[in-house]
Amino acid sequence: MERSNILLQRHSVRDFTDKEINIDLLKQIIFEAQRAPSYENSQPWKAYIATGKTLESIRKVHAEKVANRQKSWTEVTPPLGWKEHPKNNVANYMKETENLIGENGIQDLVAQNAVLFNAPAIIYITMPKDSSHYSAYDIGAFGYGILLSAYHHGLGTVPAYEIIRYPEEIRDHFDISDEESILMGIAIGYPTEGKPLSTLVMSRENLDNILQIKE
Ligand SMILES: Cc1cc2nc3c(=O)[nH]c(=O)nc-3n(C[C@H](O)[C@H](O)[C@H](O)COP(=O)(O)O)c2cc1C
Repeated sequence: MERSNILLQRHSVRDFTDKEINIDLLKQIIFEAQRAPSYENSQPWKAYIATGKTLESIRKVHAEKVANRQKSWTEVTPPLGWKEHPKNNVANYMKETENLIGENGIQDLVAQNAVLFNAPAIIYITMPKDSSHYSAYDIGAFGYGILLSAYHHGLGTVPAYEIIRYPEEIRDHFDISDEESILMGIAIGYPTEGKPLSTLVMSRENLDNILQIKE
């Protein structure tokens, strides 16, 4: 597999510089992600971007809620107990993260989550309420398109549950209809250099465990 392949190079970035992202570039990334395939070209996604003063306001409220251990919830069903196959990977993710960044690193990671990774912009993605699994599939492709497009344009990203676990702080700042559920948030920005939280690369399961080919 060639190394210049952006699918192999992208990884989550959880530490950003304070450099702002040009609004036209943010629009271009969403425009490119719109090329994602979808069921009957239904394009069930919508995107909302917070940056500048709006994001500072959301970040402040979010950090306060985390500090107060305010109970969180999401507008779509979160994983409620993993089945064995993903469960093993989740356990591995925890171990691997600690091995790579150490115990202090884990504290830093948790702290970075609380301040929304100090990202200069956040992209929120919504889906029509009570959508089918196919729409979830389509919107996942749209989200991944955002990550890859951002990488192509020299930006780092992290999709994070953390970002959308207090939906009211998002709805307070945007006009999001009751017909939509907030599905995912993606922090985006210019990665800091050489810091563990911006360089962390996670492994993947052995291909043979997830693939069957019959000839
Ligand atoms: C749906 C989803 C939710 C996630 N939530 C978080 C989160 O709340 N905090 C975080 O630091 N990373 C979060 N991540 C990032 C994953 O931990 C990361 O994608 C995974 O470990 C693989 O690493 P990589 O993206 O660097 O390849 C999330 C990723 C996805 C797709």
